[in-house]
Amino acid sequence: MSSVNSSDLHTDPSLFPGLEVYAVAGNPIAHSKSPLIHQRFAEQAHQRMHYGRLQPDLDSFTQSAKAFFTAGGRGMNVTVPFKLDAQKLADVLTPRAQLAGAVNTLWMTEGKIFGDNTDGAGLVRDLLAQGIALHSARILLIGAGGAARGVIGPLLEQAPKSLVIANRSSAKADELVRLFANLAASKEVALESRTLIDLEDPAKTPHPFDVVINATAAGLMDESPLTIQAVAHIFVPSSFAYDMVYGKPTAFMQQALQRGARVSDGLGMLVEQAADAFLLWRGAQLATTINPRAVLTELRS
Ligand code: ATR
Repeated sequence: MSSVNSSDLHTDPSLFPGLEVYAVAGNPIAHSKSPLIHQRFAEQAHQRMHYGRLQPDLDSFTQSAKAFFTAGGRGMNVTVPFKLDAQKLADVLTPRAQLAGAVNTLWMTEGKIFGDNTDGAGLVRDLLAQGIALHSARILLIGAGGAARGVIGPLLEQAPKSLVIANRSSAKADELVRLFANLAASKEVALESRTLIDLEDPAKTPHPFDVVINATAAGLMDESPLTIQAVAHIFVPSSFAYDMVYGKPTAFMQQALQRGARVSDGLGMLVEQAADAFLLWRGAQLATTINPRAVLTELRS
C-alpha cells in the first residue's frame, strides 16, 4: 500500500511526520515527471515516503539543498541547471559522479552528503531494454556539454567498438576524449572526437553508425545539430537514433526517421535514472519489486 503524499509541492520534512522526504530540485521544476515516477516506485515497492519538488533561485541551490538536508530530507534528485552545484555540494562523490563531472542524486548518511550520477546508467539500461546492442557497436555521441559527459563512462563500460564524440566546437570534444582516454583504452574502445562539420565529410566519417545519441540542447530550440549532408553519412536503416530530450519528436529524430532508422526519445532514460536513484536511497534489494518499464508505459499512455 502506498503512503506517498500527492501534494508534491512541499518538501519541508516537518510537514510530513512519519514519512521520509525526498525532492527533485531544478529551475524550472513545475513540469518535472520525477514526483510521479518516484510515487509509482514507492507504490510498487510498498515504501512510505514523500517526494516533492523544489525550485531554488538560480543562485541559491546550495543554500536550499543544505536547508533541506538539515531539516531531515533524506535524498534529492538534481536537474538542470544545478548538477554542477550538486557536485560541489557533495562531501563524498562516487567514482562515476567524479568522472561524469556532475551529480543528479544526493543523499545524507551519517551527517555527510553523498553525490552520485545515475544518468549514464539510465541511458544504457534504456538502450538495452529497447534491444539495442552496445557491445562492439559503433556509437556516435553528439554534444560535449554536461549531458554528454555524464553518459560517456557507462557507454564505454559496455565495450563498444568505437565511440565518436562530435561537437560544434572541437575543444570541448577533444577535452572529453582526453578525460576518458584511460577508460576507453582499458575497454579497447576507439575513442575519437569530431566537429559537426567533420560529420559531413566521408573522408573523416567513412562509416555510418549503429547508435547515434543526441546530447545537445539543439532540440529544445527545434533545431538538429546535424546538417543534411551529415545525416546522409551517419544513418542507415539499421541505425538507432536516441535523443536525450523527451516530449515531442525532435528535428534530430525526424532526420533519422527519414533515413529509415529507428528512433527513441529520452523518456526511458529519465525513468531508468530515477530507478537507480530510488534503489540508492531505499535499498538495492528493492530492485526486483520496482518495474521501471511499466512506469514508462504509463507515462507514454
Ligand atoms: P548540457 O548540460 O545540457 O549538456 P551545456 O553544457 O550547455 O548543456 O552543453 C550544451 C551542448 O549542446 C554543447 O555540446 C553545445 O555545443 P557547443 O559546445 O559547441 O556550444 C550543444 N549545442 C547547443 N545548441 C546547439 C545547436 N543548436 N547545434 C549544435 N549543438 C548545440
